[in-house]
Amino acid sequence: MASDPIQALLGSFREEIGRGVSTRGEFERLKGRFLGREKGLVPELFARLKTLPPGERGAFGARANAAKTEIEEAVRRLGAELERREAASRDRAAAVDVTLPGRRPRRGGLHPITVVRRRIEDIFLRMGYSIADGPELENDFHNFEALNFPPEHPARDAQDTLLVDRPAASPLLLRTHTSPVQIREMRKHGAPLRLIVPGRVYRKDEVDATHSPVFHQVEGLVVDHGISMADLKGTIAAFLEALFGKGTKTRFIPTFFPFVEPGVDVSMTCIFCRGDGCPKCKGSGWIEIMGAGMVHPRVLQGVAIDPEEYTGFAFGLGIDRVALLKYGFPDLRLLFEGDERFLAQFAGEA
Ligand code: PHE
Repeated sequence: MASDPIQALLGSFREEIGRGVSTRGEFERLKGRFLGREKGLVPELFARLKTLPPGERGAFGARANAAKTEIEEAVRRLGAELERREAASRDRAAAVDVTLPGRRPRRGGLHPITVVRRRIEDIFLRMGYSIADGPELENDFHNFEALNFPPEHPARDAQDTLLVDRPAASPLLLRTHTSPVQIREMRKHGAPLRLIVPGRVYRKDEVDATHSPVFHQVEGLVVDHGISMADLKGTIAAFLEALFGKGTKTRFIPTFFPFVEPGVDVSMTCIFCRGDGCPKCKGSGWIEIMGAGMVHPRVLQGVAIDPEEYTGFAFGLGIDRVALLKYGFPDLRLLFEGDERFLAQFAGEA
C-alpha cells in the first residue's frame, strides 16, 4: 500500500512527530506543512477527492477524514505540551534564586562643592560661628547701596551684574556676592554677630576653565566690641591652616572694597610648591584666596549699629576656587557638567 497517498501522508507525519518537536518554530513549521490552509498536505488530500472516480470517493473520503482527525489531534497535543514547557521556563526565569550573591547597590557621593562647603562650615562652627543665608534674587539696595558702592561704581555695571527687573524702588538682580546677607543679618539682629553665609552667586561671565556665571562663595561677618584687624588676621590664619594644612601661611595685601576699610586681598602659601615658587603661583610662592577687611563705619551706620561702640570684620572666598586648588583639577567646568566619572572620585569624601 506504499502508493496509497493517505498511508504515505500518515507515515510521514508519524515519523516527524517521532523525531520530536522542541521549539515553537519547529512546531509551527510542522503544523503548516500538514494542516496549512493553502499548501498543507491534508487539504491537498481533500482536493484530490474530486479527481477520483465517483465510486471511490466515499471510501477515500472516510479514510482521509480519519487521517485528518489523527493529525489534528496529535498537533493539538503537541501544541499543548509546548505551551506547558514555555510556561514552565517563564516561571523559572521569574523565580528568585536565593542562593545568588547579592548585587551591591551603587552609592551616591557628595558633590565636591558640597564637600568643601561642609568642611568650611565645620571649621567655623567649631569657632562659634552660626550659618545664615539670604535670597539669590536680591535688589540693588542690599547688593550694592547698603554696602557703600557709589552709584557709578563699575561693579554695578550691567557688564558684571545680571539684572532681572527694574521696579521703581530698587532694581532686582541676581546677587553678585554673598555680602548682601551681611546687611540683612545686621538689620535683623543688630550687634554682636558672628556668622558665615555659604551660597550661590552670579556674574555675567563667559564659561571657561576659571570662570562661570554661577559660582559659590562663603561670606564671614563678625561684629562685636573691640574687634580689630588682629582678630581678622588670627581668624583667617587659623581657618586657612585648618583647610589647607599646618604650615599654611597667610599674607594681607591692601586693596579696595567699598564695604570695608581697610580692605585686603588675602594670599596664602602656594599649595603646589609650598612657597618655593612655581608656574601656578607665577614664581611668587603665594596664591590669592579671598577678600577681607574691617567693616566700613558707613555700612554699620546704615544698619543702625553705632561704629563708635562696635567694630567688625568681614571676608569672602570662592568655594569653587578652593575645590579647584584643594583637589588640583584643572577646569572649573568639571564642577558643573555632572560627569559621573569625575564625580565618582569624591564619593568617599564626607
Ligand atoms: N564680596 C567680595 C567679592 O565678592 C569679597 C569680600 C567679602 C571682600 C567681604 C571683603 C569682605 O569680591
